[in-house]
Amino acid sequence: MYEKMKARLEKIVPDVELRYKAEIAVEINELKKQKNAVILGHNYMEPALFYSVPDFTGDSLDLSRKAAQTDKDIIVFCGVRFMAETAKILNPSKTVLLPAEKAGCSLAESITAEDVHALKAKFPGVPVVTYVNTYADVKAESDICCTSSNAAAVVESLHSDTVIFLPDEYLAKNVANETGKHIIFPTLAPQPPLPQAGEGVKGGEGQLDYQLIGWHGRCEVHEKFTVKDIEAVRAQFPDVVVLSHPECSPEVVAASNFSGSTNAMIRYVQQTKAPRYLVLTECAMGDNIAAANPEKDMLRLCMVRCPHMNTITMEETRDALKFNRYVIDVPEEIRVRAYRAVQRMLEIG
Ligand code: 13P
Ligand code: SF4
Repeated sequence: MYEKMKARLEKIVPDVELRYKAEIAVEINELKKQKNAVILGHNYMEPALFYSVPDFTGDSLDLSRKAAQTDKDIIVFCGVRFMAETAKILNPSKTVLLPAEKAGCSLAESITAEDVHALKAKFPGVPVVTYVNTYADVKAESDICCTSSNAAAVVESLHSDTVIFLPDEYLAKNVANETGKHIIFPTLAPQPPLPQAGEGVKGGEGQLDYQLIGWHGRCEVHEKFTVKDIEAVRAQFPDVVVLSHPECSPEVVAASNFSGSTNAMIRYVQQTKAPRYLVLTECAMGDNIAAANPEKDMLRLCMVRCPHMNTITMEETRDALKFNRYVIDVPEEIRVRAYRAVQRMLEIG
């Protein structure tokens, strides 16, 4: 195991750390066999974990498919709670374990099922799309889910004049830009009623004044990247290719060469020939891309880290399997409604 990890990570992880973590990886893989478990690892996992124990790695869309398809008894989700919940929603007869009890997400925390109720009351009949970065009870209130890799396709699949898109403000604005829609952010405080879809305030040439209704949720990591960061790196390395996740602001996305889901960014680096890249997302993913593309320089701005993803360690993953913790449960009444929204998304792709 140490040799295998060293071959990939020699230039990324100090040798003493590799030796220590290789021992834990062996333990994890043994427990995995004993317990008939599968380990799913999100692209944000730290490099030693990412390259040693997951059976599958990927973005949230990819991993929800893997969770739905597995026939193992236990799914260990090396990611955050909303991802583990999605696995449980899709494959309820399996035991789903999240190695760190408090691995949350600022987007999932930004909205409640009651907020969605209130929006539906304010915009009756308008379909609700929720980003998978939400908890099960919010998904249960939605018509369909989306991830960063299919958000625009999901919105367009609805063929609706107006769509409620929750809860990521920046992803919503980026989808609005991509699909040519105008977005508003309503307040739920009492106020004069907003025009309903189909009878809205008309813009020039009979256009509806808005087609997307957003929410002010933010990813606490991606909101911190700025155009100034990009300019500073470009001033020093004029040939740098800048990649950003669509949870970044529209200004950052516009200043980037490419924006896409974590998988899409990984593919982009593999398939292009530039000498250096700046990856505006969780820093560990920059490490993982660097390890897979040693001939390319990978710049990463590590002043912001996802505090939730970073609670998933090799020690916690081993202990999850050893002590059967932390079990993710979703009440059946919520699960069946959330399932419809997630399954509908998977059918779109
Ligand atoms: P992906 O779906 O692109 O993997 O993103 C998940 C996430 O939490 C990004 O911050
Ligand atoms: Fe949530 Fe942002 Fe962390 Fe992704 S990076 S899990 S969106 S807080």
